[in-house]
Amino acid sequence: MTATVSRPEGAQEALPLDVEAIRADFPILSRTVRGGKRLVYLDSGATAQKPRQVLDAERAFYEQHNAAVHRGAHQLAEEATDRYEEARRTVARFLGTDDEREVVFTRSTTEGINLVAYALSNAGTAKEAAFRRYAVGQGDEIVVTEMEHHANLVPWQQLCERTGATLRWLGLTDDGRLDLSDLGTVVNERTRLVAVTQQSNLLGTINPMGPIVARAREVGALVLVDGAQSVPHQRADVAAMGADFLVFSGHKMLGPSGIGVLWGRYEVLDALPPFLTGGSMIEVVRMEGSTFAAPPQRFEAGVPMAAQAVGLAAAVDYLERLGMREVEAHEKALTAYALERLSAVPGVAVIGPPDTVARGGAVSFTVEGIHPHDVGQVLDDLGIAVRVGHHCAWPVVRRYGVPATTRATFYVHNGYDDVDALVEGVRHAQKFFGVG
Ligand code: ALA
Repeated sequence: MTATVSRPEGAQEALPLDVEAIRADFPILSRTVRGGKRLVYLDSGATAQKPRQVLDAERAFYEQHNAAVHRGAHQLAEEATDRYEEARRTVARFLGTDDEREVVFTRSTTEGINLVAYALSNAGTAKEAAFRRYAVGQGDEIVVTEMEHHANLVPWQQLCERTGATLRWLGLTDDGRLDLSDLGTVVNERTRLVAVTQQSNLLGTINPMGPIVARAREVGALVLVDGAQSVPHQRADVAAMGADFLVFSGHKMLGPSGIGVLWGRYEVLDALPPFLTGGSMIEVVRMEGSTFAAPPQRFEAGVPMAAQAVGLAAAVDYLERLGMREVEAHEKALTAYALERLSAVPGVAVIGPPDTVARGGAVSFTVEGIHPHDVGQVLDDLGIAVRVGHHCAWPVVRRYGVPATTRATFYVHNGYDDVDALVEGVRHAQKFFGVG
């Protein structure tokens, strides 16, 4: 089969996005790897590449406006602050809220989750009664799922260790879905918070937020959604989702590293004590003690990541120009084609939902007789970048009885030719190792 960007024989549909035009926006895609090979980048789930528009926005900030925001009486400080706060408004709009106070800039998804976990344990010892509303302690329960990335598991284990609370979890079905059959008992009157990924980084599964949020509401629990793998790929609408927190990272959505977002319902954020303390997040400081600013500043201690926030806003603009519905449809078409072609290769087993129903563009698989690290190395020799290992979701690989997987993840610059390259690469690995 000849590699075709837009629609090879066997693909269900033409791709919604203009892949050739999009590739031209990504400087890194014009370099070659491993002795002159085209870079087939299938690792956006780990970190996405950056279009020129994002790189230019970050560079322009440093070249023209760089200063410490919310400090300083000079013109640059004013311009930097304006751009940082404009970035916050852009992100709020992207999430479907007009209340930018609900957008807290963090350094990453991981930091956003730790922020909430530490705020909940700090609530237990807060002097101010207003900060104790969501305190977690002995007898309370935190609920996660077995498909969480370590970033949405370890912080909750640690919260339980600090407070004496108990961690419970929802299990998985054999076809890679959440097992919600015991939702009604796992989430109960003792539950203080349910933390769940919207899309599994390993299985690609998109979880149904409706029943989880509804059950949490029945018992008065908070809901935190890990959107690291979903917000870059589908339209986010925090009002429709109904959760209390949504966390995600800039670097997985074409933006810079070192910037993330914690969206929180204002009423909930306002009742939480801080995580990191220091400059910027205070109201009044005396030697005897301090009071804290209102959100979002309460959660943004230190000099903020202004250039990164501006870069993230440029990434949002880029994605919105493409259209999030088109981005989602594009990846769905690629995923359908990848699932079909990979499952036609003898010896290849996809770990995760076998079709594109409630499934995003993360495709994990094993190749019988070849360790995933070896598959990854053969693919790399061909210029194909994938991730191998347990993908920071060790309980998931354990659940499916494999030591590791090879994972391909798709984004806006991928075409059918990338999927063809992947499948041919897997076949090449089988020949190389004399299996299949
Ligand atoms: N969380 C990232 C991944 O799934 C790094 O690859």
